[in-house]
Amino acid sequence: MYRLLVLHGPNLNLLGSRETLIYGTGSLGELDRKLVEWGQSEGAKVTARQSNSEADLIKWIQETPSHYDAIVLNPGAFTHTSIAIRDAIAAVNTPTIEVHLSNIYAREEFRHRSYTAAVTVGQISGFGAYSYCLGIRAAVQKLKEKGTE
Ligand code: DQA
Repeated sequence: MYRLLVLHGPNLNLLGSRETLIYGTGSLGELDRKLVEWGQSEGAKVTARQSNSEADLIKWIQETPSHYDAIVLNPGAFTHTSIAIRDAIAAVNTPTIEVHLSNIYAREEFRHRSYTAAVTVGQISGFGAYSYCLGIRAAVQKLKEKGTE
């Protein structure tokens, strides 16, 4: 069974009350329950964590090699600011899929740039909670390909 770490960045703890027209009305707890189900149907065990702190996210990314096969990461606003998170992903070599609830390219210009996307396998943006489902599927697909290489 593949082990996937889903990381939610800053302000995603407020899902359900935060800018609901953009991010929807479902809570983070509801999303995390779906993540576990989506993982199970792909043959993966999902562990989900959220932090508002860049340091926590970096620490968790750094710890992945001995515990997880892939990361599904929504870096939140750190997407657009954090060279440190980008470097952590590049350092560990754990395949990482970047996901966003909203379509960051249809929003303010400062959201169009992702510092992290270039060191990920790929980015999924704009499908609401379903972006994470696609992210889990993409991570498992990548791991299957790696296994048969
Ligand atoms: C987000 C998009 C980011 O621009 C924003 O700062 C977030 C959420 C998304 O999931 O759509 O916090 O990552």
